[in-house]
Amino acid sequence: MTTAPPRPRRITLADFHAAAREILPADAYDYLEGGAADERTVRWNTEAYERLALLPRVLTGTAGVDTRRTLYGTELASPVLLAPTASHGLFHPEAEAATVRGAAAAGALTTVSTFSTLTVEEIGAAATGPWWFQLYVQRDRALTADLVRRAREAGATACVITVDTPVTGLRERDLRNGFALPSHGTPANLAGVAAPADQGTAEQGLAPQPPHHGIHDPRIDPTIGWSDLAWLRTVSGLPVLAKGIVRPDDARRAAEAGIGVWMSNHGGRNLDTAIAPLTMLPAVADAVAGRVPVVVDGGIRRGTDVVKALALGADAVAIGRPYVWGLAADGADGVTAALRALRRETELALALLGAPDVASLTPDLVRPAW
Ligand SMILES: Cc1cc2nc3c(=O)[nH]c(=O)nc-3n(C[C@H](O)[C@H](O)[C@H](O)COP(=O)(O)O)c2cc1C
Repeated sequence: MTTAPPRPRRITLADFHAAAREILPADAYDYLEGGAADERTVRWNTEAYERLALLPRVLTGTAGVDTRRTLYGTELASPVLLAPTASHGLFHPEAEAATVRGAAAAGALTTVSTFSTLTVEEIGAAATGPWWFQLYVQRDRALTADLVRRAREAGATACVITVDTPVTGLRERDLRNGFALPSHGTPANLAGVAAPADQGTAEQGLAPQPPHHGIHDPRIDPTIGWSDLAWLRTVSGLPVLAKGIVRPDDARRAAEAGIGVWMSNHGGRNLDTAIAPLTMLPAVADAVAGRVPVVVDGGIRRGTDVVKALALGADAVAIGRPYVWGLAADGADGVTAALRALRRETELALALLGAPDVASLTPDLVRPAW
């Protein structure tokens, strides 16, 4: 009798990626992985980290290392947050409930998408650790204020307003697949809220999206401006971050208003050929000058990526696709395992750099690789 060889252990995010690819239906996998148009920005996001080299300090007497980071008063085991990603029901039957439990077991903070498959109340009840709420500002402002109030009452401790999605990018994989969110992926928080006709694109003189696109949500308000962020700060009573900033002038404006800066190009899913946030990080950190936290996401796959972003001025980083790979592969345990893998790599990178903690990561530790 032959026995099957034991399954190799999953030790890196790439291992979870391979597992997710095997497990997920092809169209859900494409929805997760895909970016806009030619997916150049998706590639640039990871390449930006590959093009940087580290310059380790030696003989620093560094024994143990400490990856902890405190953000808005919450102490986290590591400076790695979970970026908001929609529709976890597509990836695991326990959906966001598994995500928040898995993150908490790793001492991490989850940012819950407006487009979650479970309601904020259900997620709050499942959460055993800290979480923030990601807001897509809705055309209906009373509904918007109500969403934020519900999230706060359910336990969210900050509000992340996504500012880079007046319309959804050209997700060609989804168009080719004729992908529309199935019932186990639709946004529970907006159940019963009628979607207007697709004016989001029409208003901007663009051709309406094909009816089968199914991903662009016309309830999102494309007209939001800085005054809306100030209004949301007042109505939410929570710290507010703006997600989707890549320019120093926008970052300065946010910092002046006391709004946290979350650098992102939406994982390359919106404007193809938009710059990798990492490339702009030094200039953005300069413009912010420590007045508010700076979070950066897009393309982080290794502990060495985490330390590079922190060395160049980020207070924390966020990952999107990688924890969803963990969720698809193994539910809550997969999320925990993926986060722990990244944390172990971050600890090793700190130790090998001669940096005892995340506060000792400075720009001189990084330079272009060639
Ligand atoms: C499947 C998927 C769904 C996403 N949904 C949202 C969302 O609902 N709101 C949002 O602000 N960003 C969303 N994003 C963008 C992520 O928050 C994040 O910016 C991006 O995934 C980071 O890049 P990474 O996947 O390379 O780590 C989504 C990304 C993916 C991959």
